[in-house]
Amino acid sequence: MSILVTGGAGYIGSHTVVQLLEVGYDVIVLDSLVNGSREALHRVETITSKSVRFVEGDVRDRPLLDRLFAEYAIDAVIHFAGLKAVGESVEQPLAYYDTNMHGSLVLCQAMAAAGVYKIVFSSSATVYGPDAPVPYIETMPRGSTSNPYGSSKSMVEQLLMDLSRADERWSVSLLRYFNPIGAHPSGQIGEDPQGIPNNLMPFIAQVAVGRRLELSVFGDDYSTEDGTCVRDYLHVMDLADGHVASLSSHRQPGVHIFNLGTGQGVSVLKMIKTFEQVTGQSVPYRIAPRREGDIDAFWADAGKAKRELGWWAKRGLEEMLRDTWRWQKNNPHGYLSVK
Ligand code: NAD
Ligand code: UD1
Repeated sequence: MSILVTGGAGYIGSHTVVQLLEVGYDVIVLDSLVNGSREALHRVETITSKSVRFVEGDVRDRPLLDRLFAEYAIDAVIHFAGLKAVGESVEQPLAYYDTNMHGSLVLCQAMAAAGVYKIVFSSSATVYGPDAPVPYIETMPRGSTSNPYGSSKSMVEQLLMDLSRADERWSVSLLRYFNPIGAHPSGQIGEDPQGIPNNLMPFIAQVAVGRRLELSVFGDDYSTEDGTCVRDYLHVMDLADGHVASLSSHRQPGVHIFNLGTGQGVSVLKMIKTFEQVTGQSVPYRIAPRREGDIDAFWADAGKAKRELGWWAKRGLEEMLRDTWRWQKNNPHGYLSVK
């Protein structure tokens, strides 16, 4: 079986490609490299001793997609390609809707023209909106979104639901990720953000390795146990396994929505303390004002994925932090030196 992985040179994509290759899928990666790395895929090949077909290009390029579908007998598409920085999306809404929304539209058009109707889409827990009660469960309606990134995820979900309603050949998995962290246990691939990291885990790792002086903890007056925000962090290898598992749900047509999280919430201070214990590295931090748009606490009800896919997050917090540190220590500047 051949899987087209858009955005497969990025963080979650590269880890998923490893797991797809390990279980015997053929993989074709389409990535524009706007935020991904060719080196990541070289390392995927080293880890798996298998080859990846790589096509550098844009998911909005319809003629290119048509050529890809004509050249390879693609059975399903895992669609990671997109832009993901929330703050940047507020400043550049057109770029975000163009890549995330228009990109998904063009991809679906090319798939339909080629007779490929199986798609796994990278959605986000953000689609539940700020007012949803925790834990988030798939039966809840989508909520309001406060930024173009979140809106684009919600819109693509709607697009795929409408497609499935109109044509029963479509089989759609909407995977709502919680907070992926960690890296492949080899320490060869991991998260490599450009510039100043927006997210907590890469920031902690860059402070620990000496690239940044200290972490700002955004707010300690939330209504949580220690006053800092609580999130459901899951290992990127578990997330990758979730994509492999979700391909099996494509035996049934229709829309399949799954939360991919651990079901456990962890505070920012607990993340720092546990990282320090596990790695022996200190992470200097100071308490800073709240970040606009942050929600105090959310985590997944991950029961549906367990019941229907036989998937659950198997790797614990210490393993996530150890693996993050191995990657960061071995690659203090990410893939940069070889890009
Ligand atoms: P990433 O930036 O590392 O990977 C995205 C990949 O898509 C990159 O390699 C980039 O070069 C590629 N890409 C971007 N625009 C493209 C285009 N127009 N054509 C072709 N390729 C393009 O991000 P990630 O963390 O691996 O996230 C993957 C997906 O999961 C994204 O859709 C993201 O929105 C979604 N997601 C991520 C998180 C998270 O916390 N990382 C959470 C929820 C959802
Ligand atoms: C953020 C996005 C979310 C997106 C997700 C994955 C916002 C408001 N939300 O989620 O839409 O799906 O990333 O890309 O941007 N923190 C610090 N200091 C830091 C960084 C983060 O204290 O330097 C705190 C945050 O306030 C938050 C927690 O750490 O409480 C996790 O932050 P982050 O990793 O950015 O994830 P989310 O906010 O959950």
